[in-house]
Amino acid sequence: MKHAVVILAAGKGKRMRSKTPKVLHPLLGRPMLAYPVAAAKESGAERVVVVVGHGAEAVKEALKDAEVVFVHQEKPLGTAHALAQAEPVLAGFEGAVVVTSGDTPRLRPETIRALVGALEAAGGRGMAMLTLELKDPTGYGRVVRGEDGRVARIVEEKDAGPVERAIREVNSGVYAFDPSVWRLLPEVKNENAQGEYYLPDLVALYLREGLPVAAVPAEDPSELLGANDRAQLAAIEQAMLDELRGRWMREGVRMHLPETIYLEPDVELAPDVVLEPGVVLKGRTAIGEGARIGAYSVIADSKIAAGAEVRPHSVLEGARLEPGAVAGPFARLRPGAVLEAGAFVGNFVEVKNTRLGQGVKAGHLAYLGDAEVGEGTNIGAGVITANYDGERKHRTKIGRRAFIGSNSVLIAPVEVGDEGFVAGGSAINQDVPAGALAIARAKQKNLEGWVWRRRGRYPEKAEVRE
Ligand code: UD1
Ligand code: CA
Repeated sequence: MKHAVVILAAGKGKRMRSKTPKVLHPLLGRPMLAYPVAAAKESGAERVVVVVGHGAEAVKEALKDAEVVFVHQEKPLGTAHALAQAEPVLAGFEGAVVVTSGDTPRLRPETIRALVGALEAAGGRGMAMLTLELKDPTGYGRVVRGEDGRVARIVEEKDAGPVERAIREVNSGVYAFDPSVWRLLPEVKNENAQGEYYLPDLVALYLREGLPVAAVPAEDPSELLGANDRAQLAAIEQAMLDELRGRWMREGVRMHLPETIYLEPDVELAPDVVLEPGVVLKGRTAIGEGARIGAYSVIADSKIAAGAEVRPHSVLEGARLEPGAVAGPFARLRPGAVLEAGAFVGNFVEVKNTRLGQGVKAGHLAYLGDAEVGEGTNIGAGVITANYDGERKHRTKIGRRAFIGSNSVLIAPVEVGDEGFVAGGSAINQDVPAGALAIARAKQKNLEGWVWRRRGRYPEKAEVRE
């Protein structure tokens, strides 16, 4: 049986206490709503409709590449009212109408298909809903069953008495309806504690029509947890991380203290990668076989080749390490930083939009921006490529096997030729030819005996006396 999926995402999400609409709160770097949208598509839905309202413009912008149909709910009058907004775009659709929430991000495509399967098993008539057993059902609608054990109705927590509150079987908010849903929705009333049109009230209406209502218990309740407040959001993210880490460990990744490691879904890891405690891997980061990432390093959108190493407390964004390159501890690699094979960037070195050739060493306290450094060159401690003149950025080019003495500033645009040698403490603003020594600093002058003279007292054996 064909199906469409409607995702309800118009609510304000008051309990988040946030300016950001609830469904845009990120989980592992993606807006929460991106997950049910992806699950809906992967389930093979013919159409995916998202009901937006609170923060609609921001929500649509965040999902502009998702190829879904958006419909508006002007006021958040309740989940039944939200679904009713999808009628115009689904009128005439013959299959199952699956409904889920933007705040139930771990719902899997298989579960959507199983729910459609349950409706199909009932001859495609009536409705099917997913339920779950929770130790602590607080906040959820309770599933009230009749003496025959069949579902009779759903009671929202705010409308429940003490007996109903004690029920631990709850409504997941994920349903599959037959097309009579559009006929029954207008009959839902808002006479309840919240003055809202409740979607779960459809259960009683379907039963009144003599249509079957199937309650499908979820295999894994954690899949259906809702993110209504920050604590639930954090718990869901935690569960997603557990799953992701488990998957990579099964693929051969070594994680020390895995519960301290954060990684996002687009990260790619090869076998024998070693992640030390507290590592954070974001965006499209890819790490090759046997590479090691040191403790408390934060790496976003970077490529770390096989056998490369990032030492502790380094921060990388949009960088690339080729095989055997080493960065850190305390390295800062910004977009466009490329370390070719065997290059080394050490403590407190910042590299931006700069390629370091094979075997280049920049061991300490340097800034290399908009530069190109040829293979085998040594960059001394405290070297700075001054790439900005207050208006524009300029490039620095350093040849192969050159030597840039400590605390030199290379004022771009400037070029140092192959095997060029810059004396420590130089301010270089003219090109240095290949093989040349450049000294660009005030000449040293020694004033003999100056200290003793000022003091008026000379050591016994002093040779200088005036
Ligand atoms: C809902 C169910 C509850 C169930 C729980 C499961 C209702 C009345 N209750 O409660 O039985 O146990 O989900 O997680 O449906 N929304 C709109 N427009 C509105 C109101 C809500 O689009 O007018 C959207 C929200 O953005 C949210 C979803 O519907 O994504 C669910 O609303 P929420 O307020 O979170 O309902 P719950 O109280 O969690
Ligand atoms: Ca909810």
